[in-house]
Amino acid sequence: MRYPIYRPRRMRKTESLRRMIRETSLSKDDLVMPLFVCPGKGVRQEIPSMPGNFRLSVDELVPEVKEIDALGIPAIILFGIPETKDAVGSKAYSPEGIVQRALRAIKSEKPRLTVITDVCMCEYTDHGHCGPVKKDGESCTVDNDAALELLAKTAVSHAEAGADMAAPSDMMDGRVAAIRAALDEGGYQDVPIMSYAAKYASAFYGPFRDAADCVPQFGDRAAYQMDPPNSDEAIREVALDIEEGADIVMVKPALAYLDVICRIKQEFGYPVAAYNVSGEFAMVKAAAEKGWLDERRVVMEMLTSIKRAGADIILTYWAKHICKWLDEAPAGGDEKRRK
Ligand code: PBG
Repeated sequence: MRYPIYRPRRMRKTESLRRMIRETSLSKDDLVMPLFVCPGKGVRQEIPSMPGNFRLSVDELVPEVKEIDALGIPAIILFGIPETKDAVGSKAYSPEGIVQRALRAIKSEKPRLTVITDVCMCEYTDHGHCGPVKKDGESCTVDNDAALELLAKTAVSHAEAGADMAAPSDMMDGRVAAIRAALDEGGYQDVPIMSYAAKYASAFYGPFRDAADCVPQFGDRAAYQMDPPNSDEAIREVALDIEEGADIVMVKPALAYLDVICRIKQEFGYPVAAYNVSGEFAMVKAAAEKGWLDERRVVMEMLTSIKRAGADIILTYWAKHICKWLDEAPAGGDEKRRK
């Protein structure tokens, strides 16, 4: 393509003109706030590697959710830390499970807030893998097909408790189809699925694993999560999830995978979510605490880049901050000059 003569430096851009020709902007409607719910009463335990984020018991979670709703954040995603764990992660699908109880409490207070639930077994199994494990010669591997049944049961029990959307993050083969079938059968044909479609075996999940207490006790997740150098594989994973019935597809993490977000958006034209994960949060927080980075400017730049890459939805631990920053932004950019 031949470009016409462009006069970028001669063009006088007032702040308002700059905004008018801006190609991408971040809005509250893009945001999903992740929350960790734990057993007990009056628990508000800060996660050391994620300052400003807490493990909250249900009674503490409800006011937090009210605040999030009042800020204008349209959705939250819930992660549960159960009382007890076992080999099959049975607390994941118990009607009295921690997420199920949290859902009922939230929905009775804020029925219109979109409540998404992470559907995975790793927080509920004593070995920390995303499904039950089976012995495979010398090593242990996750029993894919056994996991499917449990994941489907979990998604249905979340829907029964009021979840608006299921977000499977386990990466088992066939889980979107299994969850879709189970939801349909349970009468939840209208509950959508946001699948963690391109989920990489990433080092950026470190702080989350402390928060949710789901570090694998042996081995790692490389067998079922994707290899970071691959992006053709991400296209195949997404195609499969869409075929199986995913309504929204997610890329995770976000920042190191902007090219993947971009390719997926262009290839499928589907709603794309990006998970700005715990490690991405922690590294900026740490630098900001040392005074090495301007947190607000860095975060706005990073999250805008995730949108620019093609994400429609961003799951981020900065959701509350961003709402406050957007509210603070001057409505009329030329206010100062007029004086
Ligand atoms: C559960 C799950 C993980 C995250 C979201 N869901 C951890 C993992 O896969 O190890 C990570 C989120 C984050 O780092 O913020 N499977």
